[in-house]
Amino acid sequence: MAARLSETITAETSRLREEHGVVPGLTVVIVGEDPASQVYVRNKQRTAEGCGFSSVKHALPADVSEDELLALIDELNADDSVHGILVQLPLPRHLDEQRITQSISPAKDVDGFHYVNIGKLTAGDAADAFVPCTPAGCMLMVEEQLGKDLSGKNAVVVGRSNIVGKPMASLLLAANATVTICHSRTAELDQVCRGADILIAAVGRPNMVRGSWVKPGAVVIDVGINRVEVDVDGEKKSKLTGDVDYDEASEHAAAITPVPGGVGPMTIAMLMSNTLRAAKLAAGLGAD
Ligand code: GUN
Repeated sequence: MAARLSETITAETSRLREEHGVVPGLTVVIVGEDPASQVYVRNKQRTAEGCGFSSVKHALPADVSEDELLALIDELNADDSVHGILVQLPLPRHLDEQRITQSISPAKDVDGFHYVNIGKLTAGDAADAFVPCTPAGCMLMVEEQLGKDLSGKNAVVVGRSNIVGKPMASLLLAANATVTICHSRTAELDQVCRGADILIAAVGRPNMVRGSWVKPGAVVIDVGINRVEVDVDGEKKSKLTGDVDYDEASEHAAAITPVPGGVGPMTIAMLMSNTLRAAKLAAGLGAD
């Protein structure tokens, strides 16, 4: 699905350049040396270039001051060649993540983290919002399996983060699903999950969702990315695993995403989609 989306975005980007002379511009800001963030940013940039975007990275030292970072965002907000601004999270502890995120112009907020975009999504105006990339990608996968109208379906979202859990719940609700949001303080989580026609796991606990928690025929999306140590022939190796025990759950689910290689590529594809949309809107062209 992600590859198909990227193909469509690449074709539209060529058309935008040829017909209107507009090249979508994505600027990524990364602070410090977090290895996982470096990998994510590299993947985002590589995909952006593949789509024909102009892609710029600002790598700032881990001890950059909040004022310096805010000044850079101000500059990017004022730069007409920049259509999308993404500040990679997490940020070092001395930086106020909300203050930084809210300083990005809502029109360039391709992460969908600005309160204006969160407000539009929550108020049922998702069509006019930049929607956070991971839940937007998950929603496309749910739609591919079950269609756009989820009336009568029970959806359970495990995790209540601002990046995934909350916006995911808003999207599912907007599609008429009956939505339950669970988290670390939920009682009898396994029982709640057993009622789910759509189960979204986004808690960051390796293999927490067991096969017996999955309703037969459910659509299961695993947003977790956990690094765990495994023993390979007596040697300790690190490997990525999701929040769902894939081998067990795939015995029960009608459809399930793997980790790695499931949600990740969809998140990046949605970032490209949001950036293309921001470029079109900035050029006074209707988005879709
Ligand atoms: N860190 C992990 N996921 C994300 C994301 O979707 N956007 C940003 N900016 N940082 C992240």
